[in-house]
Amino acid sequence: MSDRWWKDAVLYQVYPRSFADANGDGIGDLAGVTERLEYLQWLGVDGIWLNPIHPSPNVDWGYDVSDYTGIHPHLGTLADLDRLVAQAEARGIRILLDLVPNHTSDQHPWFRERPDFYVWADEIPNNWESIFGSGPAWTLDPERGRYYLHNFAPQQPDLNWWNPEVGAEFERILRFWFDRGVAGFRIDVAQAIVKDRELRDDPVIPGLGIQRFYSMFRPETHEILRAWRTLAESYEPPRLLLGEAYSLDVEQWAGYFGQNGDQLDLAFAFMLTHAELDADEMRGIVAEVVAALPADAWPCWTGSNHDIGRLATRWARGDEARARCALVMLLTLRGTPCLYYGDELALEAGEVPAERVVDCATPSRDPGRTPMPWTPEGGWVEPWLPLTDTRRNVEEQRADTSSTLHFTRDLIGLRRRVPDLRSGAYAEVPAPVGAWAWSRGDGVVVALDLGDEPVEIEGIDGSIALSTNRTRDGEHVSGGLSLAPYEGAIVSLT
Ligand code: NOJ
Ligand code: CA
Repeated sequence: MSDRWWKDAVLYQVYPRSFADANGDGIGDLAGVTERLEYLQWLGVDGIWLNPIHPSPNVDWGYDVSDYTGIHPHLGTLADLDRLVAQAEARGIRILLDLVPNHTSDQHPWFRERPDFYVWADEIPNNWESIFGSGPAWTLDPERGRYYLHNFAPQQPDLNWWNPEVGAEFERILRFWFDRGVAGFRIDVAQAIVKDRELRDDPVIPGLGIQRFYSMFRPETHEILRAWRTLAESYEPPRLLLGEAYSLDVEQWAGYFGQNGDQLDLAFAFMLTHAELDADEMRGIVAEVVAALPADAWPCWTGSNHDIGRLATRWARGDEARARCALVMLLTLRGTPCLYYGDELALEAGEVPAERVVDCATPSRDPGRTPMPWTPEGGWVEPWLPLTDTRRNVEEQRADTSSTLHFTRDLIGLRRRVPDLRSGAYAEVPAPVGAWAWSRGDGVVVALDLGDEPVEIEGIDGSIALSTNRTRDGEHVSGGLSLAPYEGAIVSLT
């Protein structure tokens, strides 16, 4: 076991409004998550990241926070959160919350009472663009007659991190939750917290458009992350900082880990989610990530979330065999995997007709946020987002040992039993065109055929510990491993 629990962990992202609804009002809630802890323990997850649970006008569904130390009444109460943390702990599961330090809601009392907490200008001062809507990132506040900055929606004013009192408030917020037993935070737009003090224009590169060089990615953000690391380390066990750190530039992204682990513990490796499920492309990205990371740094692998949608649709185009290959990859690369609720079922994007869309972004992210199908009927009463396709649901897959749900559970179980799968070094193994193979430590080889032709990975001797085609589990391998298209296997070497 490593000294940090999260290095051995499998994380699981819960979008609280869509996971489980305990009181039947159509909105998932904290009590619903507590009721489903038995399921999550059975699946084998070690930590749950909850998307924001705080009071919010829900312009951006919780990412516009109006009270950082409260709980949104739709989701429950502080007592419900305490109960969830305690009951999860009893099952060996830790709870992570979502910290939104870049901006608040315009309904947060600070926006009226503490204008010095936000970024203002008398005229629109630069070319910065809002991420939602692609218009200017500046909006006139009629009450003050001045413009305020919002990198996201106009209802999400950006905080002014040059004001040390903002930092002091966030340290208070972190302590509030750490003291309640919360195991850590996923940090929203961790790359954007500090803005250029002089508000200089973002560069515009012909053909590529605006580059968020001054409105985001400022070097001073690293100082904030360092301070939070120190704070997180003052707890026992140290609290986890998992950054969204959305940069597709691998070198820049690796910078958020800092030196000797003095910034983020984990950062999502989103470059993989921008790739196709293609052996050459993915192998190349993983090689870049491995080369760029500081020696002790640990990436967080994910294939789905509430912004980028579901891997079973994006990577696998609905095909369960491909989704299983993606799950093998996420759970056997060196790093910490984070599954999104439903990944374990190969759940696809939901269908959300135009009149039901509630997201503020274009294109709408709602298809990746539809309710968890618990039963063939869904298990929901008039949910807030439609649940129409329940072909892949928990009840039926749990009753069927050949299902993707059992496959995912067995994969997590194998990872738990085999130390090499958690901490063994990653090294590429030669594989024919269309295939990707790698070893973990000395004891394991993982191989995926992501092409349309059968392949043979040469020089492999051992036995198949787990295959996406379950009939091959336990098969003896001598001299080479044959794989059919979209088949993957984890081989224990002899
Ligand atoms: C990233 C979050 O994941 C996304 O859902 C949100 O809209 C933006 N940050 C703004 O907070
Ligand atoms: Ca509810």
